[in-house]
Amino acid sequence: MLGENIKSVTHMDNVKLSEDGKSVVIIDQTQLPNRMEYITLSTAKEIWDAIYLLQVRGAPAIGICAGYGIYCLALQIESQEYEAFAKEFHEKKEYLNSSRPTAVNLSWALNRMEKVVLSNSDQSVEKILELLKQECKAIHEEDIAMCKAISEYGLTLIKDGDGILTHCNAGPLATSRYGTALGPLFLGKEKGMNFKVFSDETRPLLQGARLTSFELCKAGIDVTLICDNMASIVMKNGWVQACFVGCDRVAANGDTANKIGTSGVAILAKYYDIPFYVLGPTSTIDMNCKTGEDIQIELRKPEEIKEKFYLEPMALSEVKCYNPAFDVTNHELITGIVTEKGICYPPYTESLANLFK
Ligand code: MRU
Repeated sequence: MLGENIKSVTHMDNVKLSEDGKSVVIIDQTQLPNRMEYITLSTAKEIWDAIYLLQVRGAPAIGICAGYGIYCLALQIESQEYEAFAKEFHEKKEYLNSSRPTAVNLSWALNRMEKVVLSNSDQSVEKILELLKQECKAIHEEDIAMCKAISEYGLTLIKDGDGILTHCNAGPLATSRYGTALGPLFLGKEKGMNFKVFSDETRPLLQGARLTSFELCKAGIDVTLICDNMASIVMKNGWVQACFVGCDRVAANGDTANKIGTSGVAILAKYYDIPFYVLGPTSTIDMNCKTGEDIQIELRKPEEIKEKFYLEPMALSEVKCYNPAFDVTNHELITGIVTEKGICYPPYTESLANLFK
């Protein structure tokens, strides 16, 4: 289990290559907070399942796992002939890409890896494998740097003693090192600042209860766990000075897909006049999506609502369920989008486009 200090939390190796360099090793997030278990993923099915089952989750962490994963699968391709290698690589990439649809980091990382294959058709397969290894490591290293920069920008938005409400988990487990939405809180704590964090439990998969409150608590940050439907009362009580959330895909106009329930938090924040910030790396901004209407929302199984975490089912088996994993927060509700390149403010169509110039 983790030690009780900030560094043990901000320096968790949640996704890495195995020692022999042939498999991906992840912290199985479904076992937290009760067990810190590492699992090794070697086959395409194991990697697909780990992403689908949220053993590895959080947009940036999914991208990092997919990068390492497709590299490990590329090592298993027998053909040393370029055309056959590239074809099999593409098939494996498409398979991994089908595991979850909403977080753009999955396809972003896989496309980045495939670009290495496609732009080196004149090289030997051995050389391409070497370049693929460099690329997946670069994806990971860049994420570490992006999280740190986001944390620094985010910290400028809050002051010592503030109450911060967060939804889902956008901390070290979901990313690399500091995290995105939680990054300013870890960084502030390192500098001697104290915040009072309210963590929505995040129904139905409880990322807030199982992961966010675990990370913050282990880092010695004051965290209070609340059920999702308690956000309004803590805001009304005057205990929240800002909302910080992560993102899975940000459209060109600033509409933001994040964990189901995020848009409700944003609507409440608007009512109570509390600033609502989205924090995420530019790898989560999808300029190909003009608005949130273009973002595919993952629908998951009814059992997650009716049965998971309960000793017996909490609804009749014939009861219908609607279980979207994400919702889209309208850009008009977002005070600012904090990226590693700076803080974007409305109009987002302009400020986000400027990031990619
Ligand atoms: O279904 P999950 O747990 O993968 O959803 C994760 C989120 O919604 C996070 O807020 C988002 O990926 C940002 S992680 C930095």
